[in-house]
Amino acid sequence: MDQSLHTSTRPGVVVNNVSKLYHTDTGEAVEALRPVTLDIATGEFVALIGPSGCGKSTLLNIVAGFESPTAGVVLVDGEKVTRPDMRRGMVFQQYALFPWLNIRDNIAFGLRQRGMPRKEREAVANRYLDLVGLGEFGDARPDALSGGMKQRVALARVFATEPSTILMDEPFGALDALTRGFLQQELLRIWREHRKTVLLVTHSVQEALFLATRVVVMTSRPGRIKLDQHVALPYPRTLATPGFRELEAMILTALDDELRKTYGTAPQLVSD
Ligand SMILES: Nc1ncnc2c1ncn2[C@@H]1O[C@H](COP(=O)(O)OP(=O)(O)OP(=O)(O)O)[C@@H](O)[C@H]1O
Ligand SMILES: [Mg+2]
Repeated sequence: MDQSLHTSTRPGVVVNNVSKLYHTDTGEAVEALRPVTLDIATGEFVALIGPSGCGKSTLLNIVAGFESPTAGVVLVDGEKVTRPDMRRGMVFQQYALFPWLNIRDNIAFGLRQRGMPRKEREAVANRYLDLVGLGEFGDARPDALSGGMKQRVALARVFATEPSTILMDEPFGALDALTRGFLQQELLRIWREHRKTVLLVTHSVQEALFLATRVVVMTSRPGRIKLDQHVALPYPRTLATPGFRELEAMILTALDDELRKTYGTAPQLVSD
């Protein structure tokens, strides 16, 4: 597939000179992000990768509006981000479902916030339940579902509110390989059909290369951009796609440098 169909020059997410200092309880300052600038066009799929603790979640939370930057500004679809908004859907690593609501109401939650009438929002929720293969589970409570099923609900919940931008913080990290592969395909299909802007944090170089049109590698903390690599491989991608292994090696080398700074000597890298 030609991914130029899915990208445009319209700015989707603009991160302009964003830095972040946290202050701990003991009054110590932690520099999480050193000015980061990143322009993501509408419809682009960007994977963000970097050593543990380098500031990936911090950056994602700032784009989502859960955290404010110490300096700099984030614009999404041309508007300054000052608080969370349903136009930016966030998928967390740990599902974050409401345990007291059944699955259908979990998915419909955002639609209810928006004032959509019950019948309509149940119809939308059922559609997205089917989409992630959980049509039978609308009446179940989250604690009756496996980890993979909960993460499918979390994805359905974000998709149902039809955000322009999907932010994902290691959404597949806790899943078994089969479920992960299935959900990666689902995400790709939805991205291709609806042309969302996607910013995905992952620790897997292979996941980044299976999915993204662009891979951004961050340095060890304080996080800065180390490598910004366009990925022009056709979809669907496999390890055997010509060019895949070369890109993988290049990204692993960039990461390896940063891991050495984090850990002294780099541990053996596993790429998935
Ligand atoms: N609320 C906070 N208060 C103080 N320090 C924080 C806070 N949140 C994050 N940090 C620090 O900021 C740095 C970046 O954290 P962040 O969670 O963004 O890293 P990350 O790249 O997402 O790591 P991981 O890959 O392990 O999830 C870390 O040193 C972390 O300890
Ligand atoms: Mg994180």
